[in-house]
Amino acid sequence: MDLQQYLRRQAERINAELDRLVPPENAPPETIHKAMRYSLFAGGKRIRPVLALAASHAVQPGCPGIEAAACSLELIHTYSLIHDDLPALDNDDLRRGRPTCHKVFGEAMAILAGDALLTAAFQVLAGLACGDGTKVRIIAELSSASGTVGGMIGGQVHDLEGEGRKPDAELLDRIHRAKTGALLRASVRIGALYAGATGEQLAAFSKYGAHIGLAFQIVDDVLDVEQSSEALGKTAGKDAAQQKITFPAVYGLDASKVMAARELDLALGALAGFGEEATWLRGIAALIVRRTA
Ligand code: IPE
Ligand code: IPE
Ligand code: MG
Ligand code: MG
Ligand code: MG
Repeated sequence: MDLQQYLRRQAERINAELDRLVPPENAPPETIHKAMRYSLFAGGKRIRPVLALAASHAVQPGCPGIEAAACSLELIHTYSLIHDDLPALDNDDLRRGRPTCHKVFGEAMAILAGDALLTAAFQVLAGLACGDGTKVRIIAELSSASGTVGGMIGGQVHDLEGEGRKPDAELLDRIHRAKTGALLRASVRIGALYAGATGEQLAAFSKYGAHIGLAFQIVDDVLDVEQSSEALGKTAGKDAAQQKITFPAVYGLDASKVMAARELDLALGALAGFGEEATWLRGIAALIVRRTA
């Protein structure tokens, strides 16, 4: 199986599980379930849940119930995108190739759909088919990666407060590690925890996750400059228009690409102690840096 085939199959596993986990559109109140599903099934890359699957595979192939743990990451991620696009945040009209959630369902329903996906993520984790100790560790992992201290929300706060401020390398690093890096790192750690990783394995995965997490947002910033809205499925050129603190703004495009490649090398280095079982993790890391959307 090649990487593309692997990614397609894992995304199918995730989509089937998400469909099972989220209430159907005809469940009352219907509007909220329609809004949740509209954003969830709009064709996201599913990188975070696939990372969780790949990490669990590297520890222990064939973990029953891992799909649900992986889906919790996509639920949080999609909530963060719905809220990121709101007029009060990035004010975006296009996401995953469609009008944004608030454009279709209105702001109130988009806020609630985000809230509902966030809540559903933890409901899913409460029902995981693993021991209680592991479950609690996974819940702690997802909540801190999504939270205010070095997590996604904290990063979004710095990102918003940084708009229009002088590009600053230290703040840039803090924003990117928090708003995007934390959830990607948690994706890898949650997959590994579910599969029963040792402390040593977990430390290696944490390093790998931190490097690909930073690389992911560097590339997101580069693509925002270089790609079209059509290719991205979201509005290109937004970061410069909103005077965001980004890698291209601080270092320029060429240096940003070199830095992303360096993060990839460091991520691969963190997996040096693993063999073929980490093939998919290596492939995903390379893809994160070489992707064009
Ligand atoms: C976009 O994430 C938001 C960032 C954190 C940079 P993705 O590029 O993973 O978006 P989807 O899930 O594929 O739509
Ligand atoms: C968003 O970063 C990170 C999130 C926590 C959603 P961006 O604002 O750069 O994401 P895009 O470019 O809109 O997807
Ligand atoms: Mg944003
Ligand atoms: Mg945005
Ligand atoms: Mg962006």
